[in-house]
Amino acid sequence: MTTGTTAPPALEVRNVTVRFAGLVALDDVSFTVAPGTVHAVIGPNGAGKSTCFNVLSGLYRPAVGTVRLGDTELTRLAPHKIAALGVARTFQNIVTTQGTVADNLMLGRHALSRAGFAASALRLPHVVREQRAHLAKAREIAELTGLGDHFESPVALLSYGDRKRVELARALCLEPRVLLLDEPVAGMNAAERVRMTEVVREIRAELGLSLVLVEHDMGLVMRLADEVTVLDFGKAIAHGTPDEVRRDPEVLRAYLGTGTTGQEAA
Ligand SMILES: Nc1ncnc2c1ncn2[C@@H]1O[C@H](COP(=O)(O)OP(=O)(O)OP(=O)(O)O)[C@@H](O)[C@H]1O
Ligand SMILES: [Mg+2]
Repeated sequence: MTTGTTAPPALEVRNVTVRFAGLVALDDVSFTVAPGTVHAVIGPNGAGKSTCFNVLSGLYRPAVGTVRLGDTELTRLAPHKIAALGVARTFQNIVTTQGTVADNLMLGRHALSRAGFAASALRLPHVVREQRAHLAKAREIAELTGLGDHFESPVALLSYGDRKRVELARALCLEPRVLLLDEPVAGMNAAERVRMTEVVREIRAELGLSLVLVEHDMGLVMRLADEVTVLDFGKAIAHGTPDEVRRDPEVLRAYLGTGTTGQEAA
């Protein structure tokens, strides 16, 4: 692929607090996703991981704190503005069932289309060229995510693991500089997990983007992450390499407290 020649800027989360009524879902959380790295955010159920993603992608506004991508402050921007700046995400519980793989990936390209509705309807030559280029890019991303053979297939006919990868591919169609993956292997069987791990590795090597990964599967986190932030009851209780956080007494206490010490707690 041709993207990813320049490293993405660092993503900085500073002193972010999110409150829901009486509940503090994120409490003064700070961490930095270094350019081109895989940064995992882990923690027991309800720790605030998805809330953190919702702040990063602009769905929630924190009561306190900032999120920056390089010099650009993302904190008060609408979700589509943040996406246009190159921050794409997948959702924890959403799996596509409509249309073909190609249709879904072309939806992902939509935000990048320059042609207006009227020009598209009239099929003007420059629009046709643009559409062709988008389709070629979508196909390239399908190949990269292991969906090349299914490009024209209806998503509803694919296995669950393939459909989760359609979500990933759709997010990649935005050509993001930062990709947020919320539990990419949740609900997958062992073979599907291995496949997804390979695909994420490949994306990282090929595209040079930064990845932020929320995942309960510790094996996957240990294999993929350069750095890990551990949340517990909304607080960041540890940062470090996978090996460092695995041995951190605070982290062990947080996980032992919920009985999910690691393996496939999703
Ligand atoms: N929109 C909301 N309104 C009220 N409370 C919320 C909302 N979203 C999240 N919460 C609460 O905030 C806390 C953190 O939730 P969050 O979904 O971020 O956890 P999580 O770490 O992603 O958990 P899981 O591993 O189960 O996905 C939980 O107590 C949750 O019930
Ligand atoms: Mg969650």
